[in-house]
Amino acid sequence: MKSNTEKFGKTPHQPSLWTRADALKVHADDPTTTQPLVSADFPVLSNEVFIWDTMPLRDLDGNITSVDGWSVIFTLTADRHPNDPEYIDENGNYDITRDWNDRHGRAKMYYWFSRTGKDWELGGRVMAEGVSPTAREWAGTPILLNEQGDVDLYYTAVTPGATIVKVRGRVVTTEHGVSMVGFEKVKPLFEADGKMYQTEAQNAFWGFRDPWPFRDPNDGKLYMLFEGNVAGERGSHKVGEAEIGDVPPGYEDVGNSRFQTACVGIAVARDEDGDDWEMLPPLLTAVGVNDQTERPHFVFQDGKYYLFTISHTFTYADGVTGPDGVYGFVADSLFGPYVPLNGSGLVLGNPSSQPFQTYSHCVMPNGLVTSFIDSVPTDESGTQIRIGGTEAPTVGIKIKGQQTFVVAEYDYGYIPPMLDVTLK
Ligand code: FRU
Repeated sequence: MKSNTEKFGKTPHQPSLWTRADALKVHADDPTTTQPLVSADFPVLSNEVFIWDTMPLRDLDGNITSVDGWSVIFTLTADRHPNDPEYIDENGNYDITRDWNDRHGRAKMYYWFSRTGKDWELGGRVMAEGVSPTAREWAGTPILLNEQGDVDLYYTAVTPGATIVKVRGRVVTTEHGVSMVGFEKVKPLFEADGKMYQTEAQNAFWGFRDPWPFRDPNDGKLYMLFEGNVAGERGSHKVGEAEIGDVPPGYEDVGNSRFQTACVGIAVARDEDGDDWEMLPPLLTAVGVNDQTERPHFVFQDGKYYLFTISHTFTYADGVTGPDGVYGFVADSLFGPYVPLNGSGLVLGNPSSQPFQTYSHCVMPNGLVTSFIDSVPTDESGTQIRIGGTEAPTVGIKIKGQQTFVVAEYDYGYIPPMLDVTLK
């Protein structure tokens, strides 16, 4: 199979490359790009459910939006099973680690509301059982469409397959709280095509998910980012000069890095409502570098496009590595070229002493970064851990040109609104 640049040669834009040379610049524990330590005595949002990916309600321009003074977040959510015999180990103890690790298979979309932008109250499931067409309701984005409270929830319907879908409902407020009503008809939008984006038939470990719709501040059109892998049979990708980049002598060996083929996908809407989409070539590819660029999202600032995406240590290719966290790239126009922020791409990673403390970071336009707690060590050796399944402390970063800096830490799950909409 052709290398990435040859493959997308005749398309409307060239995907930008996150190269192996860029990734060699990633350094864990740089204080300007490392999340402060999360203490093991964190509070949990709920003893009934685990939560992970957090999706604040926002408008199509990216502004985090409250309604009638209520902040709203959606979360991927799964029941905790402290009393289920299936999760009791041979010593009679609840095996929370196994319960947590199994959560992806039973992920459902829930919502929460708050008057303070933290201390979230559980609202409940967004869709009733049976509404979503597949077993798993995976990440996406809730969009407040208007002052009538109409909400489009874009998300991923997974197992069987992975389809980007949307469901329309409405947010209703009272002085006591918030409810989500409607959300009864799920509309499939698109799936991987096997030409630009890898399909399950090409690779059983393919990724195709996490829609993030937005209105381009420059051309005003409706687009959507999503996570993908570059099309082609698993193992057929070429890690050539372009994917390697300018490496020092001794760093030319790419090992088995052809198996890591992440990309940030983009689609454009053919209609105003976002019911009809056309996939375009990826904005960014990481062939030979990393296999997952998840939950891609933008911050539009200073006339630039700041593209953020989350990734893991375990998804890096042979010969390159970096912490779990959020990575970023910047361009002067939507279709690039994108260059890695801070030279490497790393924006906010876990400290090496607590490599799994947080994940699924979402950088908001006000510079606040929300994430969830995965697991935090409770002893020196790091063999004992406490499982999170709850909101992490919010971190403040400053974005300046091609650099970012950690500058502040806030309360657990602090997601303040950037604007309030009074419903009519
Ligand atoms: C990120 C993620 C998303 C996916 C979800 C599945 O944490 O892997 O890409 O939608 O979690 O649980």
